[in-house]
Amino acid sequence: MLKGRHLLDPRDFSLEELEEVFSLADEIIEDPKKFLHVCDGKILATLFYEPSTRTRCSFEAAMLRLGGSIIGFSEPNASSVSKGESVADTIRTIGCYADIAAMRHPKEGAPTIASMYSNIPVINAGDGSHQHPTQTLTDLLTIRKLKGHLSNLTIGCCGDLKFGRTVHSLVKALSRYNNNKFIFISPEELNIPDYVRKEILEKNNIEFREASKMEDVLGELDILYMTRVQRERFFNEDDYVRLKDSYILDKEKMKYAKDDMMVLHPLPRVNEISYEIDEDPRGCYFKQAKFGMYVRMALIAKLLGVR
Ligand code: NCD
Repeated sequence: MLKGRHLLDPRDFSLEELEEVFSLADEIIEDPKKFLHVCDGKILATLFYEPSTRTRCSFEAAMLRLGGSIIGFSEPNASSVSKGESVADTIRTIGCYADIAAMRHPKEGAPTIASMYSNIPVINAGDGSHQHPTQTLTDLLTIRKLKGHLSNLTIGCCGDLKFGRTVHSLVKALSRYNNNKFIFISPEELNIPDYVRKEILEKNNIEFREASKMEDVLGELDILYMTRVQRERFFNEDDYVRLKDSYILDKEKMKYAKDDMMVLHPLPRVNEISYEIDEDPRGCYFKQAKFGMYVRMALIAKLLGVR
């Protein structure tokens, strides 16, 4: 039963519960008109303490397409946060006005703290460099739709694997399905964190290895998950400038890839995928952004128990 639950971590839902969300998303994609009024009279609050385009807009579009309404802020300085209000007090107040909340915060664990004080479901819409479970729902729905399955995959994760929360959540989620293996491609300073390596991969006996050159591994991959270097998490601009263009996927490199390899990216892209790849049928990142709205529609409907 998903009604009334929070979504803070990609493993909060069982595989069966995830399947429930995905099959509802399938139904919505099939016939969105059927769902136009399922959230009539309900309110979603989007509490965004960090910038966002896709996550916030897709949450808001999702609620509007279900017939609900939205409140919130996209800039903490425009709210009482600028006066020093705590996350706990903000969520207690929002709980008086809204039925469900999505929160993005630069501090790891902030949405979890909020959930402890909340009388409405709280969804983690990205906390620092930690987790981003609804991006993962988006990624899983995309893979499931376009590849047809979530197991027996070789997934290459490329770019900023240290600060990139979408990769941490994706690895956490895909390591629950059978026979997936990972190849991590990053500059040494931006390697996948130890906790992902030890507590997720090694603990669950998941096959993985690291590579420094994309060309060396592209031919093995079913999915290439590209990420941008997370400038806002760097202490030092010089390090960012030195590392930002470490990997650029272009037409030349795509020659090494299988014909059915999928290129995914949570977006925004900076330089890491050349625009010429947008014409390549293997570039699936804008389809992915669209699936993000549908999966959030399904998630909101499930957590509100309207279906
Ligand atoms: C990602 C994020 O915010 O972590 N974006 C998103 O939600 N689609 C990735 C990023 O900002 O690089």
